[in-house]
Amino acid sequence: MRAILVEQFGDPDMLQVREVPLPQPTSGEVLVRIMSAGVGPWDVAQRQGRFGTELPYIPGFECAGTVVGRTGDAAGFHDGEPVYGYIGLGGAYAEYATCRPDRLAPVPMALALWEAGAAPVDLLTADAGIHDALGLRRGQTVLVTAAAGGLGHLAAQLAVHAEAHVIATAGRDHHDFVHKLGVREVVDHYDADWPQRVRDITSGGVDAALSTVTATTDGAIAATRDGGVVATPAPGGEVPAGRRVQLLRYQGPMDGGRLARLAPLLDDGAVALIISARFDLEDAPAAHRQVEQGHTRGKIVLCVNDD
Ligand SMILES: NC(=O)c1ccc[n+]([C@@H]2O[C@H](COP(=O)([O-])OP(=O)(O)OC[C@H]3O[C@@H](n4cnc5c(N)ncnc54)[C@H](OP(=O)(O)O)[C@@H]3O)[C@@H](O)[C@H]2O)c1
Repeated sequence: MRAILVEQFGDPDMLQVREVPLPQPTSGEVLVRIMSAGVGPWDVAQRQGRFGTELPYIPGFECAGTVVGRTGDAAGFHDGEPVYGYIGLGGAYAEYATCRPDRLAPVPMALALWEAGAAPVDLLTADAGIHDALGLRRGQTVLVTAAAGGLGHLAAQLAVHAEAHVIATAGRDHHDFVHKLGVREVVDHYDADWPQRVRDITSGGVDAALSTVTATTDGAIAATRDGGVVATPAPGGEVPAGRRVQLLRYQGPMDGGRLARLAPLLDDGAVALIISARFDLEDAPAAHRQVEQGHTRGKIVLCVNDD
């Protein structure tokens, strides 16, 4: 099969198309014919050697495709069923991948297979941040930073759906985009005093904040009231001495059951996955270069098989 193989860590040109053997499902796994794979900053970090991944490796944490095989004991999906999931720490930039079925879910009606592969990591991480880490409740004030990005645009919509009072940050070029997600108040995270602007809007600070990128975590802490909580899946940030803000670090879960429970939100239109760029498998280096610019609007997807 065709796959992107990384044989050396380094720049985007390390993403080379190669013929590699078809992966064989082992005990309990299914084989998925991949239609699309999401591209995110985690792929860039891994390609640069920051995760200590063994070489060579096939990148890609998330995908959508159809089930085409299984080992005898794999349960839960039938051949030809469209599925998507956060499948692991690699393997999705390829025509086929093996996967544990508990990391997969049926693709929601609202998503085409070519786009669904870009949803799982950020959708699961947004949901775990808003609902598990922050425990967001109706009527609370919540800040979602970098709300135009992959994680931010989904987290902002989940927070709006939870009927919280949502304030978001984004660069100026993204303010209209974030308003269209249902967020009324958007502040520019390149203004040095943006945390104070959030405090002013909320009379003393938000109850909770999801800092989606490292660059905004200290600002999110400053914008949160004493007794409040900040959650982030990104590294960095520190609570200054004398502040009573809880900083929670968490990871997105590889959880097909959770993805399945989120499907009605996509199907009802409460949460929309926005794809801003689509690349073919062999154009993976261009997709990585775009992610590296750091101003992704929504998500970037690689289309692997055409039909
Ligand atoms: N551990 C996990 O389980 C997990 C899962 C998912 C994501 N993550 C991490 O979460 C982070 C965000 O992921 P993502 O998918 O949302 O990334 P992304 O889509 O690449 O984020 C892009 C956004 O970052 C904003 N940004 C860039 N530089 C900024 C700066 N200096 N100040 C403020 N905002 C800035 C941009 O906003 P503007 O263009 O509007 O300025 C852009 O919208 C990454 O570090 C990722 O690795 C971790």
